[in-house]
Amino acid sequence: MADHDDSIAARISTGCPPETQRVLTAAWAHDVAAVKKLIDAPGRARAQDPTTGETPLHAAIRSCGTPSDEDDDPADLDAAHKTVYELLLWGAIWNDVDDHNETPGCVARRLGRPDLYNLCVQAGVRAEMLFGLIDEYEELGSDGADEEMEFLDEADAVADADMVVVGEDGEEAPELVNAGAEEQQNGTEEEQKEEEEVNEEEDEDQEPTFKPPKHDADADVTSEAYLRSKLTYSDGKLVDDDGNGVMMAWETDIMRRSVDALLPSKEPGKRILNIGFGMGIIDSMFAETSPSRHHIIEAHPGVWEHLESPGSKFGTAWEESGLAPGAFKVYKGKWQEICQQLRDVGQIYDAIYFDTFGEDYSQLRLFFTEFIPALLDPEGRFGFFNGLGADRSICYDVYTKVSELHLTDAGLDVDWNVIDVDMSHLAEAGKGEWEGVKRRYWTLDKYRLPTCTFLG
Ligand SMILES: C[S@@+](CC[C@H](N)C(=O)[O-])C[C@H]1O[C@@H](n2cnc3c(N)ncnc32)[C@H](O)[C@@H]1O
Repeated sequence: MADHDDSIAARISTGCPPETQRVLTAAWAHDVAAVKKLIDAPGRARAQDPTTGETPLHAAIRSCGTPSDEDDDPADLDAAHKTVYELLLWGAIWNDVDDHNETPGCVARRLGRPDLYNLCVQAGVRAEMLFGLIDEYEELGSDGADEEMEFLDEADAVADADMVVVGEDGEEAPELVNAGAEEQQNGTEEEQKEEEEVNEEEDEDQEPTFKPPKHDADADVTSEAYLRSKLTYSDGKLVDDDGNGVMMAWETDIMRRSVDALLPSKEPGKRILNIGFGMGIIDSMFAETSPSRHHIIEAHPGVWEHLESPGSKFGTAWEESGLAPGAFKVYKGKWQEICQQLRDVGQIYDAIYFDTFGEDYSQLRLFFTEFIPALLDPEGRFGFFNGLGADRSICYDVYTKVSELHLTDAGLDVDWNVIDVDMSHLAEAGKGEWEGVKRRYWTLDKYRLPTCTFLG
């Protein structure tokens, strides 16, 4: 772990604008009344020290320090909780990072402050659920007027439930109720100028700072670019031409446990659909269970070539070895199109696994909302590679909850099996398993393995 100087002198820089300094200092002192007064203007709760990246949320959490029986003052901890709550209520961003690449939640976790960490997770879940709705809205075409109305009702409901709320003291949060409508009535000219600067920065930064993570890719990898890229299969890994790890051998244990979770009885004759061949690790395991149907969907031409190469277990001979024509088959194309065809001809599976690359969470969500209800047997099981936000604990926790809520929405119950990940060769970027891989997309020592079944 990097060394951190968590002192106020190190975190609030001398060059920090006075208005921001005042908010940071009040948040650091857990002076709830002062904080509320100071953030009573758009953007103030999101102010950031330009040198250290400290936000009021970071400050309120950091000043708690690590728990200690002698020094912990319950009244101060209660005030810290209230300060964080108030800041989030007024639009503080849960995942802004400081100069040590820590979000406020990361600081809470490092210091061992679970209550404060949970407040950040809850704020993240609310924000990501709302961004999900906004994305849906943006995807609506001009002929989607009815759906648009439905969305607006839904978005209002979320806003009602999560954002237009009253503070712990029962007071409304005017910025959120009348977003943008509040004019600053008081304050000196200098204060108003500073506030305008904060607002300008905010306007430039209206996009959420945290894009729902790509499945396990670099944040700027797009599906189109990935599907055009040249792939290299080498010692225990599959990488694209930009050095992104598409699939790696260290995930074998996760694949093994996923197969065990999806096919617990080990009975032969099951109908299996796997989306994303990669290194064929999970397909080799599925094949060993003697399924009656084994369908694979794969979109990358480089993977097709690999599948057809001499020595491949899943070439023509495998396809022809199925008990009925088409029982064993690699569908070449994107699941977005192939699944529609499978749905149209009424294919049903006992086990479905989903593990693609370069696609963001909205695609996984689309899959389980639009296709699982049609393709999965009522008694069947669905699983997916759960790498969402896995480069940071708080993002992983937020995305566990977000996906659980969306799975429920799709009529699915999810059971999370927490398994250990051996980090001995995964701990350092560019070293061990990560040698030759651009980005360390996995940083956690626990994997939450999802097994989904229909509710009820
Ligand atoms: C992480 S790998 C899968 C690894 C696999 N679970 C294994 O055990 O080796 C992801 C695979 O999904 C494929 N893929 C990416 N986007 C796809 C899409 N839209 N449709 C089908 N396959 C896709 C990639 O080409 C890649 O082969």
